[in-house]
Amino acid sequence: MLIAQISDTHILAPASDQPAAKLRADCLRRCVADINHQQPDAVIFTGDTVQHGQPGEYARLRELLAPLEAPLYLVPGNRDDKNEMRAAFSDHAHLPRSGDFLQYVIEEHAVRLVAIDSTSRGERKGVFCPARQTWLEKVLSDRPDQPTLLFIHHPPFDIDDHYVGGYRRPEEAVALADVVSRHPQVAGLTCGHVHWLIEREWAGTQARVMPSVAVDLRKGIDETEARGRPVYLLHRLSQATRLASLARRADAGG
Ligand SMILES: [Fe+2]
Repeated sequence: MLIAQISDTHILAPASDQPAAKLRADCLRRCVADINHQQPDAVIFTGDTVQHGQPGEYARLRELLAPLEAPLYLVPGNRDDKNEMRAAFSDHAHLPRSGDFLQYVIEEHAVRLVAIDSTSRGERKGVFCPARQTWLEKVLSDRPDQPTLLFIHHPPFDIDDHYVGGYRRPEEAVALADVVSRHPQVAGLTCGHVHWLIEREWAGTQARVMPSVAVDLRKGIDETEARGRPVYLLHRLSQATRLASLARRADAGG
């Protein structure tokens, strides 16, 4: 199964006077076109979809995502407003209509996809409260033999000295690792938030963090080589490879 991941597009409203508005829209547009060319089975979007959580930004986001041919699954980031996101994507049947959390399970692919909501209104850091811990434990216990990919905005681990203590309470990040380590069918966990490309082992599985699609916000990319081209991730999951990920530059050809 081939899964494209996009993240941290930080889209601004077309009327915004910030110069990045056009640039960021263009980054997403180029990724969408390239993703269609790769024909993934699904696209996951790990949050910070827009900059200020405003309706005009979500309207712009919808326009830019409209050409995507594969099914799209979103989780919120700390920049998102869950109610505005729900309203903008009200036709996305998998998004819960009510409740505090925008998290869900997708069963219709070869790999089970589990979207975990790590956000809480007014909180920049990640949250994985006891209600979410109970939910994830139940979800993973329901189908212990089904290969599963988790996706979430906030990485639940420190990254050098750049991203430390990313969760509101350290014990909540530990709790997430504890739940996942009890379920070996989890093939990986993919995240955004840090705007940096990271691959590592975590909780007995593979973790990935992707650079921001917005090129003005990304870090750790050789800009001379990338020449301003936006980057997204392609994940291939199979029995043989488990999780193999490739950072793909949009418009790279081939
Ligand atoms: Fe972000």
